[in-house]
Amino acid sequence: MLEALKRLFRGHQEIGVTSDTDRSETIKQLKFGQIPKHVAIIMDGNGRWAAKRGLPRIAGHQAGMKTVREIVRVADDLGIEVLTLYSFSTENWKRPRDEVNFLMKLPQEFFNSEIKELKSRNIRVEMVGSESQLPGFTMSAINQFREETKENTGLQLNFAMNYGSRSEILYAVEGMLRDQAGGHLDIDEVNEETFARYLYTRDLPDPDLMIRTSGEIRISNFMLWQLAYSELWFTETAWPDFKEKSFLQAIQDYQRRSRRYGALK
Ligand code: FPP
Repeated sequence: MLEALKRLFRGHQEIGVTSDTDRSETIKQLKFGQIPKHVAIIMDGNGRWAAKRGLPRIAGHQAGMKTVREIVRVADDLGIEVLTLYSFSTENWKRPRDEVNFLMKLPQEFFNSEIKELKSRNIRVEMVGSESQLPGFTMSAINQFREETKENTGLQLNFAMNYGSRSEILYAVEGMLRDQAGGHLDIDEVNEETFARYLYTRDLPDPDLMIRTSGEIRISNFMLWQLAYSELWFTETAWPDFKEKSFLQAIQDYQRRSRRYGALK
């Protein structure tokens, strides 16, 4: 707990935000024994954030990258084990070509600017989603991340790229059928745990907390299986404006929830 507190206060100085009593109070109220292990985020509202300022949509995504940097640091400081960011959905291919191209280049940009710090923080970077349609330069950035951070044992940062939950479920079913046909899987042994191992998220714990920014109250084909018992937290704040303060607020609210998994308390 003391370590997490120290990290939070040190991180705060690094990002140059002047100390305020609100923040210290929020941090003091956090229960460090009850930090969610896995937080998943639908980073929504970049386009609207840009439109409000008369800027092109890609300026919103660029601003959203800054938030990614900040939230990764805070998640790491808090001792969160897994952070999954919905970065590009299987439906996002329907967007204008320029916007898609811009989004596809972000992993390389993020690699160039962040790899040093991510490594120094012992963060492992992975991707969840279908690799098949992603351009070579996007996969090459992701594979560089994988290669350079594979030994890291701290926070696991997952970019959900070309991710769609329904297609993930189909991919799992196909994998199971293939293994059954090959004699590697006995259908009588199939249970929830076996099934989960065929998903892109295979060995990850289910998210404890799912955050969606920018006022939409829906799941949008994100981790339908994995979110079965997650706590959901929504905010009107657009992703580029979602800062440490909002994140800590979400964690604090999560800690007030009573998780019963269908049982009685
Ligand atoms: C949704 O907002 C956001 C996205 C489709 C992309 C989000 C991606 C990032 C913030 C950067 C990811 C970083 C890496 C390194 C991959 P929207 O544009 O749909 O918002 P709108 O609903 O206001 O139009």
